[in-house]
Amino acid sequence: MRPPEFQKTSFSSRKDNWEERGSRVLLGNYTREPLVFEKGRGSYLFDSAGVSYLDFLGGIAIHVLGHCHPGITHAIQKQAQRMVHLSNLYYNPAVVDFAEILVEKTFADRVFFSNSGTEAVEAAIKLARRYGAQTGRFEMISMEGSFHGRTLGAMTLTGQPKIREGFGPLPPGFLYAPFNDFEKVRATRTQGTVAVIVEPVQGEIGVIPAQKEFLQKLREWTREEDILLILDEIQTGMGRTGTLYAYEQYEIVPDILVSSKALGGGLPLGATLTTDRLSQFLPPGSHGSTFGGNPVACAAGAALLRALFSEDFLPERVRTMSAYLWDGLMALKGRHPSVIREVRGKGFMIGIVVNASAKEIKDRFREERVLVNATGPADEVIRLLPPLSLSYDETDDFLSVANRIFSALSGVGT
Ligand SMILES: Cc1ncc(COP(=O)(O)O)c(C=O)c1O
Repeated sequence: MRPPEFQKTSFSSRKDNWEERGSRVLLGNYTREPLVFEKGRGSYLFDSAGVSYLDFLGGIAIHVLGHCHPGITHAIQKQAQRMVHLSNLYYNPAVVDFAEILVEKTFADRVFFSNSGTEAVEAAIKLARRYGAQTGRFEMISMEGSFHGRTLGAMTLTGQPKIREGFGPLPPGFLYAPFNDFEKVRATRTQGTVAVIVEPVQGEIGVIPAQKEFLQKLREWTREEDILLILDEIQTGMGRTGTLYAYEQYEIVPDILVSSKALGGGLPLGATLTTDRLSQFLPPGSHGSTFGGNPVACAAGAALLRALFSEDFLPERVRTMSAYLWDGLMALKGRHPSVIREVRGKGFMIGIVVNASAKEIKDRFREERVLVNATGPADEVIRLLPPLSLSYDETDDFLSVANRIFSALSGVGT
């Protein structure tokens, strides 16, 4: 006989009621929608009753080729049968193969793998500090409104006071400057500044692209002053903005680039990319991660990159399809100017700025079985992160739902 306590705490075998059960056992740090999803295919998610939702969020910028892309699923299955985890004490073909592709396709000579965006940022902070240590510098400048992660270093780097609130004392050496204002960034610099970090498109604060001139001036100045330029391409990477990484469109080359989100084809993976010269500042023993560069995640990432290039997603298909979506959105803006203030972003990273509660609009989309996200400091931005594999029909479906919702708000008929 089992002791009564064991029976009392044994888990339920029921296969329903996930929302209520989840709300009892999961930590309450997320605001979850009243939805339970069990399956994803392409641009759609399916709830427990099998009802489909058009997914314009993709796990928050993860599924660039939709859910369960056959090439990625196959690569995961194949690698899982061979080896799931090794350690960084040895070499593994899947890990080396993926690093080689990243090196071939980017400015980088070297890759450090971790498991998430915030860890990729931590590695960049440590690399910058090690580099600065030779000249007694450790300060980093980040942009107001930026988002770099939730661990102590990445959170302190994040230029949004509300994200840091209540977690002090915070580590020293982090300065903030207005985004897209080169002169102010330059004025923020002290003799202790070793690096500047920027997102090519600020996602979390409401999808705000960096101006080309801003990033180019920043690159020129940081190079002249021996300050490292770090690009946070965690959200913009893997083709989301139309090129593998957005820096290509800005015609600049960073010293360090942090990547994650879509990088692992849906599995947890982060990467800190850098040059041969800088990589020497993190010698053996200076940094590490047990799971970083997991073979299954690397195999999935490699399959994703191969699909992106071999199936002509980059840049051709993304350019064509995102232009089709943007045309539709601009037409909506023209039809409903009282509700839609602006459409901004790059490629498939889009913010619709509204004169209404973005959260309420997001709920209306959900009622129409379309998933979008509400963001912005004043609840004024609808964020769209559709898959790059979006079809014309799916785009039309999205636009007709959006038109219905905006018509109801603007009073202008469909
Ligand atoms: C630009 C950017 N940097 C860093 C992060 C943190 O990534 P993660 O949540 O994987 O730690 C995010 C996540 O939203 C992000 O968008």
